[in-house]
Parts: sequence; structure tokens; C-alpha cells
Amino acid sequence: MRKYIVAGNWKMNTTVPEGVELAKAVVAAAKELPANVELVVAPPFTHLYPVAEALKGSKVKLSAQNCADHEKGAYTGEVAVNMLTSVGCEYTILGHSERRQYYGETDEKLVVKTKLALEAGLKVILCVGENLDEREAGKHFDVVTAQTKAVLYNFTAEDLKKVVIAYEPVWAIGTGKTATAAQAEEIHACIRSVIAEKFGLEAADDMTILYGGSCKPSNAKELFAEKDIDGGLIGGAALKAEDFLGIAKSF
Ligand code: 13P
Repeated sequence: MRKYIVAGNWKMNTTVPEGVELAKAVVAAAKELPANVELVVAPPFTHLYPVAEALKGSKVKLSAQNCADHEKGAYTGEVAVNMLTSVGCEYTILGHSERRQYYGETDEKLVVKTKLALEAGLKVILCVGENLDEREAGKHFDVVTAQTKAVLYNFTAEDLKKVVIAYEPVWAIGTGKTATAAQAEEIHACIRSVIAEKFGLEAADDMTILYGGSCKPSNAKELFAEKDIDGGLIGGAALKAEDFLGIAKSF
């Protein structure tokens, strides 16, 4: 059964007290949500423990924004998958375009990270998406297909039950320029067919594929009405509980 998810990627925003307040506000507002929509928040590493405490007793899930590509040891500044599970994370985001662009995250590294995360019992929200040049050159289907295959074709249909894909066109992230529902839907359908090609129709049909990029309460309804768009990965609008929940109520 396909799951509907609205996940908030807080990126490098909020202090710990602000993050805890935001988490509490999300928990309070989440009570009004239909049971078939899962809410996830992904605060910075420093916030994970106190935010996990704030989420206790609620159905809101905790996610990291990244994980290390090694299990443990002398990797200064990195955070390992078992550290994330020990603090209560159920998910980690991987391959966000900001990590690909600014921190040299490659598909090869993402295979390693995905493997470590799945082995540790974490679910993975894998981000894919083309940049503006690629879109203007008409390469968006090729880029997204290649990114999806490069990571997920190393796994099994069983593994994929623990994976969510987020399509985030780079030109729509934080720019206020949302992909139209039709633009997003055709890429989501393409991603689903890439999954079907290797893992079969059932795996493809069960896969949750989120849209991310300037998603807000005013455009979420139209996006989520598309048959292959199963929710959102939200940046800016996830920093206000009211907007985040407004998006989650758009199904
Ligand atoms: P915005 O919603 O701020 O455009 O960010 C989207 C995003 O990158 C979520 O991961």
C-alpha cells in the first residue's frame, strides 16, 4: 500500500529551543490530520534528541538530513547511522541537491549511505532532481532516470519498501518557482516507470514519491491531486507549523 507523506526538511534553520517549539506546534496541529498521512520532521543533527523528546507519544516521525558513509571511527564531524537510530530517527534524507551541489555527494557515496541506513533499520528519503540548465536543455527525464537508477538499482524490491523518493527540481528549491502539477506529474510517472522496469509493477505502485520545491499550502492541493504525487518534501514552509500542516491537509 502506497503511503502519503509530508516531510519537513528544516535544513540549517532554527536554534535548538526554536526547533523544539516548532516540533511541539507540529505535534499539536497533527492531531487534526487524517490517519493515512504520515508527518515527518527533519531537524539539524543538534536538535534530534530534544525534538525526539517533543515528538514522544505523537505519530510524527523523526528524520535526519544526512548520514555518514562509514559505520564508525575516525571521521571527524560525521554522524553515523546507529547514532541516528539510537536517538529515535526513523528516516534519513539522502542525496539532497544541496548536498550534491555543495558537499560533493556522488551517486557512489549515496549507494554506500543508503546501504548503511537500510542495514541500520532507517528508512531513506532519496532526493533526485535536475538543475535549471538540464531542464532548459530538455534533459530532465534523463537526469532523474540516471540518478534513480544509479542508486536504487543496487538494491532489491524488498529494500525498496524502506525507500521514499523525493523529486526536487533544483530550480524550484527556495526560489518560489514551483513546478506545475503537470511538470511534476510527468517526472513522477517517469520515476515510477524506472522502478517498474527493474522491480516490477507492484514495487513501483507501492513506492511513495514526494515532490519538493517551493511547495506551500496554496499549491499543494493541485500537486497532490496528481496520481503519482504522494506528498511533499517541504523546506521553507516547514518552518511554520501552520503552513506545514496546511500542506499536509491538502490531500
Ligand atoms: P523549499 O520548499 O524551501 O523550496 O525547499 C525544498 C527542499 O529543498 C526540501 O528538501
